[in-house]
Formats: sequence, C-alpha cells, structure tokens
Amino acid sequence: MGRLAPMLSVIIPTFNEKENMPLIIPRLVSVLEEEGIPHEIIVMDDDSPDGTAKAVGSLQKRFPQARCVVRKENKGLSPAVIDGYREARGDIYIVMDADLSHPVEAVPGMYRAIAKDGADISVGSRHTKGGGIENWPFMRRFISFGAAMMARPLTSCSDPMSGFFALRPEVIKDAPLKPRGYKILLEVLVKGRYNKVKEIPITFKDRELGESKLGSKVMIYYLQHLFQLYMFPGSAPFIKFLFVGGTGMVVDLGLLTLLLILLGDNKFDLLSFRDIRFFHLYQGVSFLYAVTWNFVWNRYWTFDAGKGSGSRQYLKFFTVAIIALCIRSGLLYLAVEELGFKGMPLYHIAVVIVIAFVTVINYLGSKLWAFKK
Ligand code: GDD
Ligand code: MN
Repeated sequence: MGRLAPMLSVIIPTFNEKENMPLIIPRLVSVLEEEGIPHEIIVMDDDSPDGTAKAVGSLQKRFPQARCVVRKENKGLSPAVIDGYREARGDIYIVMDADLSHPVEAVPGMYRAIAKDGADISVGSRHTKGGGIENWPFMRRFISFGAAMMARPLTSCSDPMSGFFALRPEVIKDAPLKPRGYKILLEVLVKGRYNKVKEIPITFKDRELGESKLGSKVMIYYLQHLFQLYMFPGSAPFIKFLFVGGTGMVVDLGLLTLLLILLGDNKFDLLSFRDIRFFHLYQGVSFLYAVTWNFVWNRYWTFDAGKGSGSRQYLKFFTVAIIALCIRSGLLYLAVEELGFKGMPLYHIAVVIVIAFVTVINYLGSKLWAFKK
C-alpha cells in the first residue's frame, strides 16, 4: 500500500477485558504493520473494575499507537462505540470486540473493501458465504437467526447484528445515532448515508477469556430498538407503504360513508339517490382526500422525501394513483366479464390478486418516480 494509505482507527469497546488486552493489541498491530496500514487503536473502556485501562497503559510503551479512553458516564456498549467515533482521527473506522471473537486477520480485508474497492461500509459477516460461527449451541444460533430475520426488511445486509464492521466517517457524520440503539451496526445501516456495503466472511469464535456481558434483558432492548428503527422515516419503505395504503382505504371508505349518511337521500339506504352523479361526486371527494392523506404520510414517513418539491411530488403521486385506479378497474372488468371470475369465491380471488398487483405498481411509481431523490 502506498505512502498515502488512509489511516485506520480501530475502536474496541471493553468492559472487564484485562486478560484480552495483551492478546488483541499485539496481534492487531502485527497484522496491520505487516500490511502497511497506518492505524491507531482506541480502547473505549467503561471504567472496568478489573483494570482494563491499566492493562492498556502498560502496553503503551511497546505500542504507542494504542490508547484507552475511560468512560465514567452513560455506560454501555453502543454509547462506548459512538464516543469512540468522536475520538477517532483516522480516515476509516472499524469496531471490534476485545475477546478475539472477531478474527484480527479479517481487518485488512475490511479496510481494503473501503480504501480500495469503494465500499462505504464493510461488515465482518457470519452469514455470508464462507462465514460461520464456532461453538455456538443450537439455541443461541436459533435466537440469532430469528433476530436477524426480524431485521430483514430494514437492510439487505445478511448480518446486521455483527459487532465487527468498518465505515467511512461520512456515513455517520450527520446520522442521528441513538446510543440507546442497541445494535449499533443496525442503527448505522438504517440511519447512515451510504451506497455500497460489502460483506467479508468471518468465523465468529466464542471467547476463551473473561465472560460475556450481554445478559437476558438484551432481547427486550433489541425489540425496542427494532420498533424505533421501523418507525424511523425512510426505513423499510415497502412495509410503511402497505400500512399507509391500509389507513388510506379506511379514510376513503369512512369519508364516503359519512358523506352518504349526511348528504344522501336516505340514511337507511345509502345507495338511494335522486341522481347517481352525486354518488360519483362523493366517491371522487373521498378518493381525493385519501390520496392526499397517503401522499403526506408517504412523503414524510415512508420515503423521507420532505426535502423535495412537494407540489411536483404531489402531481406525480396523484398521476400514479389515477393510473393505478384505471388499471384496477380495467383488470377487474376483464376478470369478471371476459374470464368469468364471478360469484362468491372467484370474484374475491380476482379482487385480491388485482389489488396486490396494483399495489406493487403504486409502490414502484412512488418510489422510483414520485419520490425519487
Ligand atoms: N464499553 C463497553 N461497555 N463495552 C462493553 C460493554 C459495555 O457496557 N458490554 C460489552 N462490552 C464489550 C465487551 O468487552 C466486548 O469487547 C464486546 O463489547 C462484546 O461483548 P461480549 O460480552 O463479548 O458480547 P458477545 O460475545 O455476547 O456479543 C458479540 O456478538 C454479537 C453478535 O451475536 C458482540 O460482538 C456483539 O457486538 C455482537 O452483536
Ligand atoms: Mn464476546
């Protein structure tokens, strides 16, 4: 690597990892020096009673590039990592565990994915081809798999729970990272600004020294964190779109019913009109109202597109809605009149299929055209 190789900041959160310091720091330095990667090592320690900070201190003569930051407030793994980002002075940051569960040999590859291959984030991944986990009982694998599945709509990364990942500082520069966000990589993947994520296969080894700090409350924290991330504007847009569409249908039908009750000829027979054109008028009004409702929610929440021109977005969104409406009527007409989807189960099946199809069209039109950034 040339002389102008970007500098790597290695951030290691610790709590009671005294025994692991004399193992991980020399190994890291040896791997990084061999590859000619300029680096600093920052141990983010939560004032561990076992003397982790002292252990780092006594290594500093041999490895002046390593230092320990002792944190006395706001303790916890995620806040320690976020504080570590503030301490870091490098061009690329990497976070890893102290207990050698994350192989130091993978660090240069993760560094190069960003320094050379143009990735913005690289993840040491257990679930990508070639990765794995050593010595984990079935139950822990099962829980880990379930937890990863629940995050699936939020990111395409196969191992968003990994605590081993590197990134460019720009990814998180303006991201509203919450230290309470329990899985910090997942937090970064949902809130960060990036284009390319590269996964590097790793084999996760259970720790040999010291003990795991992550107790039983972690599952509750994780579920809370997931909930926050699903609510975050712009995350999991297809799910939000479906949800908004559902509320839009309620708004549409609710308003139509209300108009028929208030303005119809006979509130006991909502479809009695002196003039059927009134019915179509009320239908149009509630449709317009529902489209507007959907627009507002999709703009700010589903697609987080509040910065774009609202009137242009509205025009496009409305156009998509009208086209989708026409397609829906056309297809239903076809199904009933030409293909004979009449009567109790057949007609309903046709309706479900047509609505599913039109929803996808609506979604793509919104995402790729109306709210395109
Ligand atoms: N500063 C700080 N504060 N560090 C902490 C704290 C804390 O409250 N709790 C844990 N750490 C440090 C540990 O010292 C270790 O370096 C690292 O965070 C991971 O903690 P472990 O206790 O070894 O966690 P684990 O092995 O169960 O979990 C690992 O696997 C998960 C994926 O299954 C970690 O890598 C997680 O980051 C990862 O998500
Ligand atoms: Mn561990």
